[in-house]
Amino acid sequence: MIGRFLKSFRRNEEIDWNSLSKEKIPEHVAVIMDGNGRWAKRHGLPRIAGHRAGMETVKKIIKAADRLGVKVLTLYAFSTENWKRPKEEVDFLMKLPQEFLLIELDELIARNVQVRMMGWKEDLPAHTLKAVEEAVKKTEHNTGLILNFALNYGSRREMIEGFKKMAGEIQSGRLSIDQIAEEQFPKYLHTGRLPDPDLMIRTSGEQRISNFMLWQLAYTELWFTDVFWPEFTEQHFYQAIRDYQHRGRRYGGL
Ligand code: IPE
Ligand code: IPE
Ligand code: MG
Repeated sequence: MIGRFLKSFRRNEEIDWNSLSKEKIPEHVAVIMDGNGRWAKRHGLPRIAGHRAGMETVKKIIKAADRLGVKVLTLYAFSTENWKRPKEEVDFLMKLPQEFLLIELDELIARNVQVRMMGWKEDLPAHTLKAVEEAVKKTEHNTGLILNFALNYGSRREMIEGFKKMAGEIQSGRLSIDQIAEEQFPKYLHTGRLPDPDLMIRTSGEQRISNFMLWQLAYTELWFTDVFWPEFTEQHFYQAIRDYQHRGRRYGGL
């Protein structure tokens, strides 16, 4: 009873980011930015207006993560399944990286942010790829926050392709079956040497993974909110971090 009262009290209270424990900041935060379309519908707007509003949230959350000292922020921007959407919406989504980087790249550089992308580049329109590659190139030597966009990303395909690469190395004799191990498999994944996410946030009330980092999320703390992505604020982000700081991670131990 008291616990529940304290929890609801904590939920409504304004969180000063400085009050979060600096020792327990998650190293890698991954976000499924969901609910743009429903947010737009609720406001009587076309779905694309929701995506544009969602871009404003992206800017805010990058700054909040950077301020807190998060090392890696992975943002799920477009899944391999999102191609199923109407062409008009897909076309708009494929223009957003350019639009975002045109406004934000200088600021990201000033913040020492390193931009990365995971997902399949070959299916992206040339203009989208050009904008992303330029940002990656211009920030590759930066040593601050790693901003990792999951763009045309899907975890099952990622794993299947990883298995295939591994099988190829076995076939050519560069790898033996005995060398296959949990520690060596991640190098075949798009996340490469990045640490697994410590915290995964999904907005909009959906509580599923939607083909996002299936291998990497094995021991990630999951945090869900009903808030739609365009209305997600720094305060929600701090709430997620604070809740994470109260969790006990046991990895199967005691
Ligand atoms: C998330 O919002 C953005 C992308 C998947 C690209 P949605 O577009 O999925 O919004 P809803 O889920 O339809 O509300
Ligand atoms: C997941 O959201 C993908 C992104 C946020 C980019 P979706 O809206 O595509 O997921 P489902 O269809 O609800 O599972
Ligand atoms: Mg959705």
